[in-house]
Amino acid sequence: MDDGLEARIASLTEGETDPIALMATVVCEVHHSDTRFDWTGFYRVVAPELLKIGPYQGGHGCLVIPFDKGVCGAAARTGDVQLVPDVNAFPGHIACASSTQSELVLPVRNSAGDIIAVFDIDSDQPDAFTNHDATRLSAILDNVFGVV
Ligand code: SME
Repeated sequence: MDDGLEARIASLTEGETDPIALMATVVCEVHHSDTRFDWTGFYRVVAPELLKIGPYQGGHGCLVIPFDKGVCGAAARTGDVQLVPDVNAFPGHIACASSTQSELVLPVRNSAGDIIAVFDIDSDQPDAFTNHDATRLSAILDNVFGVV
């Protein structure tokens, strides 16, 4: 991810509070900022214990994920970042693409601190993500969705 990512997203989203518009903008900028990212998207909390796909970039993603399934469900259920170096070693991983090797999923919270979505990035490279990636992206998500 280039050094200008945070400032670019802040500028593009300034004054916007619509969650879908914010998600679409974040997905676009994050996805195209790094060649490690092969699928980038949001899954929204649409009902208790249920995620539904939101704006994304890359191949088709599964439409619905219960909180008790997958890496995304784990992030939504626990409220914790899921940094997965090998998806094949993650029990219950949902493979939207057989090429995915590693994954990073971050919880997305609104101004009240409620989890409203998870932010999912897949890579076809093994062990593609770092704790620094998670820290940077968490800060971006806090800044963008902390006004929703
Ligand atoms: N791999 C995710 C499912 C979403 S697809 O990767 C877009 C999971 O295990 O929750």
